[in-house]
Amino acid sequence: MITKLLQAEDIEEAAALIRQGEPVGMPTETVYGLACDAGNPDAVRKVFSAKGRPADNPLIVHIADFSDWSPLVTEIPPLAQALADRFWPGPLTIILPRTERIPPVTAGGLDSVGVRFPAHPVAQALIKASGVPIAAPSGNRSGSPSPTTSAHILADMNGRIPAILEGGSCLCGVESTVIALDDAETVRVLRPGFVTPEQLGTIAGRVIVDDAVLTKVAEGTVVRSPGMKYRHYAPNAKVTLVQGSQADFVQYMKQHTEDGVLALVFDADAESCTANRIPFRTYGDTDEARAAAFFAALRDADAAGVRHLYVRAPRTDGVGLAVYNRLIRAAGYDIVHAESAAAAE
Ligand code: TXA
Ligand code: MG
Repeated sequence: MITKLLQAEDIEEAAALIRQGEPVGMPTETVYGLACDAGNPDAVRKVFSAKGRPADNPLIVHIADFSDWSPLVTEIPPLAQALADRFWPGPLTIILPRTERIPPVTAGGLDSVGVRFPAHPVAQALIKASGVPIAAPSGNRSGSPSPTTSAHILADMNGRIPAILEGGSCLCGVESTVIALDDAETVRVLRPGFVTPEQLGTIAGRVIVDDAVLTKVAEGTVVRSPGMKYRHYAPNAKVTLVQGSQADFVQYMKQHTEDGVLALVFDADAESCTANRIPFRTYGDTDEARAAAFFAALRDADAAGVRHLYVRAPRTDGVGLAVYNRLIRAAGYDIVHAESAAAAE
């Protein structure tokens, strides 16, 4: 199979493929997804197979109109409605009990479904033209960094799916915030994203960040969101996340000068890295810029043959939490504290 790159004006061709039960690469404001008809079990199986995704990891369902939501879930509680009114269209996925409209295979065997109304105009156009709710996991091969350009999704899916719709670089660069409702006023963040816990707190009475967001899930634990237990976002290069000040980071890197090393640092660290002859590239100056850049940086490191990528850790508030959550997984939880590490060596 040759994977075709379609342009926005080819929406009808992409929509026809979706209706025929084929997967299509779809741009969204978060990352590129692997889109298919959420109600067609055969189409959903093709998506699982193209990704190499475990069958118990459910897909998010995408809609392009508020009225498309209620047929998919048994009930929309007032808190869920208020969150949707505030954050949709946008990078927020809300998990609620599903109706029969969502086949078990789409839901990874769970009795719930995560629904999201994406903000990207090409995604909205594809959903509308297809006339069906669209299931779409991120368009990477399972375990790899998520795709934030059409070139990334093509690199992972070439020959595995018939077409990819071009939509430019993804503005957010991290996948949507995934939430569940614990009760009438409590939001539980299962996966942090561009919609931050602080923002959710302006609508919800209480926001809980699930333990699995920042810590490693123990073997055999039952998790609320199956995706949290799998190895994720990992490039071929070994990744180490380094916490500490700029000075501590630079000290640490001066002791790690083996071949194939690259430091991924904040823009403001560039001068100090240059002065200390540390091979580096930057990934932004704000949490938002780092979110948009770091998946591409992981892929670029592989393309450049980097063997060990040392990443200066972002903050864990605001959008930084989403970046940190992805990076600890990319690093396989290899996190060092530069200050104490430098002192110990
Ligand atoms: O931004 C996004 O969410 C992108 C774009 C394409 O929309 N999609 C995406 O899908 O990131 P995926 O499948 O790569 O990640 C969805 C995550 C997984 O970790 C999955 O386990 C969790 O959400 N999830 C989905 N449905 C769930 C459910 N019913 N209950 C618990 N967790 C769920
Ligand atoms: Mg994913």
